[in-house]
Amino acid sequence: MNQFDEIWLKIREEVILLRRDIHQWPEIAFEEHKSQEKIIELLKRHGVNNYETVAKTGVLATINGKSSGTQVAIRADIDALMVEENTGLSFESNRDGYMHACGHDGHTAIAMGVLLALLESKEEFDGKVKFIFQPAEERIGGARHFVEGGYVDDVSAILALHLWPSLPQGSIGIKDGAFMASNDYFQIDIKGKSTHGARPNEGIDSIYVGAKIVEELKTLVSREANPVKPAVISIGSFNGGNSYNIIPETVSIQGTVRSLDKGVREFLGRRIPEICKGIGMIYGADVEVNYIYQYPVTFNHSKVNDVISMEAQKILGSDKVVRLEEPLMISEDFSFFTEKIPGAMFLLGTYNEEKDCIYPLHHSKFKFDEEITIKNGVNIIYNSIINMLKK
Ligand code: NI
Repeated sequence: MNQFDEIWLKIREEVILLRRDIHQWPEIAFEEHKSQEKIIELLKRHGVNNYETVAKTGVLATINGKSSGTQVAIRADIDALMVEENTGLSFESNRDGYMHACGHDGHTAIAMGVLLALLESKEEFDGKVKFIFQPAEERIGGARHFVEGGYVDDVSAILALHLWPSLPQGSIGIKDGAFMASNDYFQIDIKGKSTHGARPNEGIDSIYVGAKIVEELKTLVSREANPVKPAVISIGSFNGGNSYNIIPETVSIQGTVRSLDKGVREFLGRRIPEICKGIGMIYGADVEVNYIYQYPVTFNHSKVNDVISMEAQKILGSDKVVRLEEPLMISEDFSFFTEKIPGAMFLLGTYNEEKDCIYPLHHSKFKFDEEITIKNGVNIIYNSIINMLKK
């Protein structure tokens, strides 16, 4: 039995219990009070007094190695989703309409497992390890509070993982450089002049202006943005009018912009409002654009990835570490951390047909093989940290 297996036997019960507790009581952005309580309870039980609450419902805990040295951090997101659970698990959600359908209960348990494992091996490393239990990953970006609050200013590397049902259990996926896209939001409000459909000349057709805007925005990616740097502009909502023969006064459009490059991101953020305003001017409509930069590009630093990859190969086997060829156009607020300090997020495979762990994230039947998945996650991160901080 190797050293980690021995440690795992000591900590497994508490780690799995924490996962189940959190799974049974899913909480969404900035409402993670019970989850926060459970995390703090465990810290106290193990004599970890160096912790504070951050971002309302988050927790930041620090543990020290043998002597002073470098600081590294681990980030786990703790929030759930508004999904009705349908997994049939014995520890299914107690809250109707809420579920840990993105595996953040697993992330939380893994981070806590790493903490408990490091407490068992304080002689093995120097420096400090910060544990970031972060609220509100979904949509709101709780990570921002930790970065803007200066909590990672003294950290030299940060690690995170995401459970990943499209990769087989027992494998991981990693990628250097741009890993997940930035995610920005826009709303376009067009104010024309309402008129009867039979007399368009007496009004300003907000529907037509909206259609022109949609058409023109599509040319931004194909004609103006650098073609070797991918970007997506998608419009998901177009609302205006409620009668077949009345041209409405206003139209409202909402959409999302994804990109894998900071420069492209900033370019689109500048050009989209310009184009909308310009088209409004041509047709005499008043156009307002509310453009919100949400999550930056998640960027993985190769030095951190190399450590993860090396340790994961030892643990899982060299053929189980998949170097992903393509980035993902979804987004992650872990990006706020990697924008500031070196870091990497890897994907921990959970697909397992035998155990019916086949459903995608955010699905009401999403689940993972608890013990193996959590143990693998803890093992990889624990060993990566020891590797980075060993004397
Ligand atoms: Ni997630």
